[in-house]
Amino acid sequence: MRKYFTYKTLDDLREDIKQLGVHIPLEEHFEKCFEPIQVGGRRVGNRFVIQPMEGCDGTLDGKPDVLTFRRWERFGAGGAKIIWGEATAILDEARANTRQLLMIEENLSALEELIRRTRAQHRAVFGSDDDLLIGIQLTHSGRYSVQRPLIAQHDPVVDGVTWVDKKRGIRVTPDYPTLSDDELKRVEDAMVQAARLAAKVGFDFVDVKQCHRYLLSELLAARLRPGPYGGSYENRTRLARNAIRRIVEELGDQIIVATRLNAYDGIPYYQPEDEPIGRPVSVPRPYLAAWGTDPENPLEMDLSEPIQYVREMAEWGVRLINVSMGSPYYNPHIGRPFERPPIDGYQTPEHPLLGVDRHFRATEAIQRAVPEIPVVGTGYSWLQHYLPHAAEGNLRVGRVSLIGVGRGSLAYPDFVKDMMEGGEFDRRKVCVTVSYCTALMRAKHNELGQFPTGCVPRDRIYAEIYKEALRTAPKE
Ligand SMILES: Cc1cc2nc3c(=O)[nH]c(=O)nc-3n(C[C@H](O)[C@H](O)[C@H](O)COP(=O)(O)O)c2cc1C
Ligand code: SF4
Repeated sequence: MRKYFTYKTLDDLREDIKQLGVHIPLEEHFEKCFEPIQVGGRRVGNRFVIQPMEGCDGTLDGKPDVLTFRRWERFGAGGAKIIWGEATAILDEARANTRQLLMIEENLSALEELIRRTRAQHRAVFGSDDDLLIGIQLTHSGRYSVQRPLIAQHDPVVDGVTWVDKKRGIRVTPDYPTLSDDELKRVEDAMVQAARLAAKVGFDFVDVKQCHRYLLSELLAARLRPGPYGGSYENRTRLARNAIRRIVEELGDQIIVATRLNAYDGIPYYQPEDEPIGRPVSVPRPYLAAWGTDPENPLEMDLSEPIQYVREMAEWGVRLINVSMGSPYYNPHIGRPFERPPIDGYQTPEHPLLGVDRHFRATEAIQRAVPEIPVVGTGYSWLQHYLPHAAEGNLRVGRVSLIGVGRGSLAYPDFVKDMMEGGEFDRRKVCVTVSYCTALMRAKHNELGQFPTGCVPRDRIYAEIYKEALRTAPKE
């Protein structure tokens, strides 16, 4: 298996950047990273964001449990000034796994406790939490809902890789029902209701999730759906537009409205048996069922609609945007450039730096389209201890306003604290992008129907959980 991250020095990384012909500025002194910024009228103390990272560790009724508290408290004590709380379902049938958090009235006191404890940890280490924002990502898992896929459109390509029942080998077929217009209208209402609850419980911002091909993300690409939620750009953005406008109108002075948005969906990949790397599936051209994607060449981005869309969302009152891409289920190298693939993935078909660069380019295009809105960038973890060098480089040239750290924050939640104390990352603590956390996410063979996830190489608790998952795994 080829190793990509072999750099001994920053210059080694610079050399690869040059060889690959990409543009990733690397700086050596970190100033901009620690410059405060205004987000929706609130002061945020530095530029680091803990990305939404599900731990799949809630109770069966969707409350945070022991490991959820531990994870959030570690984020709180780590020093990033935005904690972007993980995917939290707006309806029971919209949960992606049996232990996903659920935004319902009954769970509010536990969620309140989660915020309280996270803030307390932050105050204990940094003295004050006045410049810390904590938000929550509201999700409808759509075709990835654990009870059964709830699909927005028949996608000729993605249907073929969507499981209805994985154990029995059943996938979505052309006669599988799509969500009706009435059902989608109810999703809009549920999103608004969940935002009300998020405001009530004290989150600083709410993310109307539109990424990774969950329901609202799939709708953006629903060119093949008939009726008021499909076809035209106007129709495809209808559900999110209505929800966002209603949330801003009703709650705009109580909670900041944010969104995590796919800039590019791309197409599925697979691992051919006789080849060393993953390959894209063949798709009809023009391929119309992907957002931000060139229909004639779906391996390339077409950011014209995402750019139009972020401009409109800024007008409606969205005040924070987090740019992501791809689907963790069918093209994980797009969203999470990796050294080793997830258990259900394939060997990376490209140098991971090309994936990092794709993220940075898409984020730059979005940030430049809405210079007044702080935009969070994604895809930094593959850079390991050189992450802050790229963060500073991108911040200085204004390609991005905030630096999102995903897997890197599971492995190394106190990276900001270490930077503040030692001036750099501790390379023994970084994420090495070997994807065990995704393997745990996919492990569902315990009595709760879901193993919790975290960093196996860097956190002993998860090394034990992983061993247990392997030991008890059903034989194929
Ligand atoms: C275990 C795990 C859980 C994740 N949970 C979420 C989530 O709840 N919501 C979301 O938008 N993205 C989620 N992601 C994606 C990350 O937020 C992030 O976009 C991705 O890991 C790429 O960023 P990175 O290179 O910093 O890791 C998850 C990723 C992993 C590996
Ligand atoms: S298991 Fe840890 S090291 Fe591996 S990708 Fe996940 S966070 Fe990174």
